Amino acid sequence: MPASRRVGRLIPHNGGHRLQLVEDTAPRPGPREVLVQIEAASLNYRDLLVLRGQLGPVREGLIPLSDGAGRVVATGADVTRWRVGDWVAPIFYRRWIAGPFREAYGPAALGGGDTDGVLADLVVVPEASLVRIPDGLSFEEAATLPCAALTAWQALVVRGRLAAGDTLLVQGTGGVALFGLQIATALGARTIVLSSSDEKRARAMKLGAWATVNYKTTPEWDVEVRRLTDGLGATHILELGGPDTFDRSLRSLAAGGHIAQIGVFTGFGPHSNLIRLQMINGTIDGINVGSGEHFEAMNAFLETHGIKPVIDKTFALADAQAAFDELAGGRHFGKIVVRL
Ligand SMILES: NC(=O)c1ccc[n+]([C@@H]2O[C@H](COP(=O)([O-])OP(=O)(O)OC[C@H]3O[C@@H](n4cnc5c(N)ncnc54)[C@H](OP(=O)(O)O)[C@@H]3O)[C@@H](O)[C@H]2O)c1
Repeated sequence: MPASRRVGRLIPHNGGHRLQLVEDTAPRPGPREVLVQIEAASLNYRDLLVLRGQLGPVREGLIPLSDGAGRVVATGADVTRWRVGDWVAPIFYRRWIAGPFREAYGPAALGGGDTDGVLADLVVVPEASLVRIPDGLSFEEAATLPCAALTAWQALVVRGRLAAGDTLLVQGTGGVALFGLQIATALGARTIVLSSSDEKRARAMKLGAWATVNYKTTPEWDVEVRRLTDGLGATHILELGGPDTFDRSLRSLAAGGHIAQIGVFTGFGPHSNLIRLQMINGTIDGINVGSGEHFEAMNAFLETHGIKPVIDKTFALADAQAAFDELAGGRHFGKIVVRL
């Protein structure tokens, strides 16, 4: 077993944290644990919130990032599910293997609070908290799935029951939004993509969007969504903006439609008057990533439909801080990956 590992850790900085790269002793798996050589990790908007201290206290020295993929390099004595060489990804909520979510699972979310994440070339993971990654994906591609893709999957498929002929609205061209677009397209639904960039709108059309709206030059994008849908509105919405976008999402929603409340781009503030939701028999579901069982079902779907995650840029571990800066700049289309 390897004696040492390279790892990124968060140290306090200017009221938030910054990344420090160090070498330390490689962990050893317990009887029901697996040692995984992480080959790639990816960043989510949440990782910026963790870095800035916006999700509450973070243990000094925490290993950030929830999303990674790699290969099994050693197994504990009682491990039955995995063998050395298997290609795997850890699940976001280490203890949410299957069944309904429980609040007690929250603190075990990778890469936040007191729970180490995957920005290390060797990590130990309980055998039940791993899934096999889809055939045909590279480690970089598979590393984008555990949070971003699974959130879109739970929102659209598990909870939203999106079907052919439905119309999805997504906000922006980041990770969750583009996975939403790809999953919806594979299901035969049409997707309207909001973006602040005309260049990204063109890329979204190439990826399968049915229509796009520039939310900067068309701030009343709800009016445009209704116009595009002959006055009916979108049947499904991935609400990523939060307080500043929620009213317009409500006004963009078709009768009987489904809003997946997911994001906090504009903050954690209070939400709108929900009377319109009542008047149109609409539904809001709060979405928090997904379970290992959801992850496995999604992977089968991605394999069947040959869906490839959209990677914008890949950074070396030595440049991991630059990967955070790139995410904060908002220039990306899809995912930002760190190669370990
Ligand atoms: N509840 C959950 O389980 C869960 C899971 C994952 C993510 N999230 C949340 O979902 C959101 C998306 O996460 P992500 O990792 O996919 O983000 P991301 O990849 O960083 O997405 C960034 C992109 O979103 C767009 N955007 C930013 N502000 C916007 C606004 N006010 N209105 C519309 N679009 C805006 C921009 O796209 P353009 O450049 O095209 O304008 C930006 O480039 C975040 O708030 C995150 O915290 C929640």
